Amino acid sequence: MSSDAPSPSSSSRAPRVAIVGATGAVGEEFLRVLHQRAFPMTSLKLLASPRSAGKTLPFGDQTLTVEALDADAFHDVDLALFSAGGSISREYAPLAVAAGAVVVDNSSAFRMTDGVPLVVPEVNPDAISDAGIGLRDGLDAGIIANPNCSTIIMLLAVNPLHRFAGVERIVVSTYQAASGAGAAAMRELEQQTREALAAPGGTGQVVSQDIFGQQYAFNLFSHNSPLQSGGYNQEEMKMVHETHKIWGQDAERGSGAAPDRIRTGITATCIRVPVMRAHAESINLTFRDECSEIKASALLKDAPGITVQDDRGANAFPTPVQASHQDDVFVGRVRRDLSQPEGRGLDLFVCGDQVRKGAALNAVQIAELLLEKRTADR
Ligand SMILES: NC(=O)c1ccc[n+]([C@@H]2O[C@H](COP(=O)([O-])OP(=O)(O)OC[C@H]3O[C@@H](n4cnc5c(N)ncnc54)[C@H](OP(=O)(O)O)[C@@H]3O)[C@@H](O)[C@H]2O)c1
Repeated sequence: MSSDAPSPSSSSRAPRVAIVGATGAVGEEFLRVLHQRAFPMTSLKLLASPRSAGKTLPFGDQTLTVEALDADAFHDVDLALFSAGGSISREYAPLAVAAGAVVVDNSSAFRMTDGVPLVVPEVNPDAISDAGIGLRDGLDAGIIANPNCSTIIMLLAVNPLHRFAGVERIVVSTYQAASGAGAAAMRELEQQTREALAAPGGTGQVVSQDIFGQQYAFNLFSHNSPLQSGGYNQEEMKMVHETHKIWGQDAERGSGAAPDRIRTGITATCIRVPVMRAHAESINLTFRDECSEIKASALLKDAPGITVQDDRGANAFPTPVQASHQDDVFVGRVRRDLSQPEGRGLDLFVCGDQVRKGAALNAVQIAELLLEKRTADR
């Protein structure tokens, strides 16, 4: 399939899709997810910077050519999946909407904008129709925001417990992979690892420090996003504000996700670790109502998008390597927090592929919700 050669098997009603940032870590994952899920499309347009114009990328057994993004790119697009950073989204997403497209945006540009739904399909799917955004006549073109990857991974695990017992407080520490900072960061971790291993005298010192400005291989450091007043960095505050928005939207609908509109206290510490792909998170919860370890495990086993991996006998719990390239978020170490009254506190350890569920898959699931809604309304 390409923009000038639509697949003959595509339904004429299937959307014409564009990926903005197709050559990036998330963009290439978009291609894999769309193909694996056989997402219905009339055409698929790949957009990136002028540097990548003419480059080819595989889509199943086809080869698609990348085009340079420009202001006219969206005249033949119904659904635009953006993953090219905040400044590109701020400039081009409004143009895509003006041309009639629904935008699903992976950047942080519009996440906290009033009227822009911030959606995790397993948590607050109705936020999309509440915003009146859709892929058919009578519904609006508009922007739907994909939450931050660490927020998505945390909420997949915590939301089922919140629905049951009301989470009053979350203390979360993240262990974030290189891929969260894009394709160039992955290349730098690889390069630094080679340099550190080859360094004379085993000093382990590295030369290539273009992305993070410090040694990443065999090291870890506080998340590279800008620090804010008060000492939290942006990534940490995204987890706080985005969770409040997502749960707040749901509570306003009265769907019971946040009983009595609990405004959960959240504090986060975000750390980069030299893992290539998939984030991990240690999560401590305080509940309003009782939630035992056994009940929590049962709720998590029944929850969509979760695989419970919690084998104490074998000391086998989630790892980033196992979670890589998987749709599900893996949850383990489910245990009572001994410092809190019984039933009121739990600890969890969670791993999820943030390029996939934290970005491309979540966005494609949002697009699938748009298609389901269109079919249901016909
Ligand atoms: N990586 C993750 O796990 C993750 C998770 C959630 C959200 N996100 C968000 O998704 C977005 C992309 O992240 P990424 O990790 O995929 O980054 P990346 O690997 O660095 O890819 C960036 C993409 O943006 C394109 N781009 C850069 N400048 C452009 C321009 N002037 N015009 C058009 N395209 C341009 C690049 O094209 P060229 O190749 O031509 O430069 C590339 O396709 C970011 O907003 C990020 O915050 C990432």
